[in-house]
Amino acid sequence: MNFKRFPEIKTKRLVLRKIEESDCDVIFFLRTDKTVNKYIERPENRQTKNKEDALKFIKDITEDIENFKSISWGITLKNNPQIIGTICLWNFSKNLKIAEVGYGLSPDYFNKGIMTEALKQVVEFGLGELNFDKIEAYTHTDNESSKKLLEKNGFHFVPNKKDKDNSANRIYEIEMANIQ
Ligand SMILES: CC(C)(COP(=O)(O)OP(=O)(O)OC[C@H]1O[C@@H](n2cnc3c(N)ncnc32)[C@H](O)[C@@H]1OP(=O)(O)O)[C@@H](O)C(=O)NCCC(=O)NCCS
Repeated sequence: MNFKRFPEIKTKRLVLRKIEESDCDVIFFLRTDKTVNKYIERPENRQTKNKEDALKFIKDITEDIENFKSISWGITLKNNPQIIGTICLWNFSKNLKIAEVGYGLSPDYFNKGIMTEALKQVVEFGLGELNFDKIEAYTHTDNESSKKLLEKNGFHFVPNKKDKDNSANRIYEIEMANIQ
């Protein structure tokens, strides 16, 4: 799959748009803020420690889109192009049957249903347009808002599937039949 144009997604209140190098400051914030990252553990080589790392991250995800390795969207409100969060499909399985979803929002915007709105559309895009059979989500057992978000949007917890890199994570899945 190759995108001729970035697959921008519009929802009732949001535009999910391409993340540009000019978004470096907000990407740095989202990848380093203590509240946003409370339950997120990244291996050393995926950590963002400074603005240069944030810029490299943006360059990497831009290349990933060109090579169909991952797709990341910046979440914006319709009336303001400033990014308030991100959502991505990544970690594609070799046979392109499974993708993982990842997301994070600036704390000022928590609990307004914003990620619900973004997640629904990204899942529909992943299963409907990109033809993945399944989308997985890895989330920390104590991350109540993330678990609630997943459960209310049709994801189901798979107790016998384990994250070999982090035993505190739970794995959730969604397939087309689970879309609400
Ligand atoms: C997880 C996250 C994306 C949720 O985004 P959001 O836009 O606030 O989500 P929504 O408002 O759509 O839904 C969250 C739900 O969780 C509920 N919730 C929030 N905190 C909760 C808590 N401590 N216990 C139980 N439910 C909780 C909310 O009430 C809401 O449910 P409702 O719509 O039935 O009221 C956001 O909290 C976030 O970015 N967290 C930091 C990053 C992160 O943890 N990412 C996940 C990594 S796997």
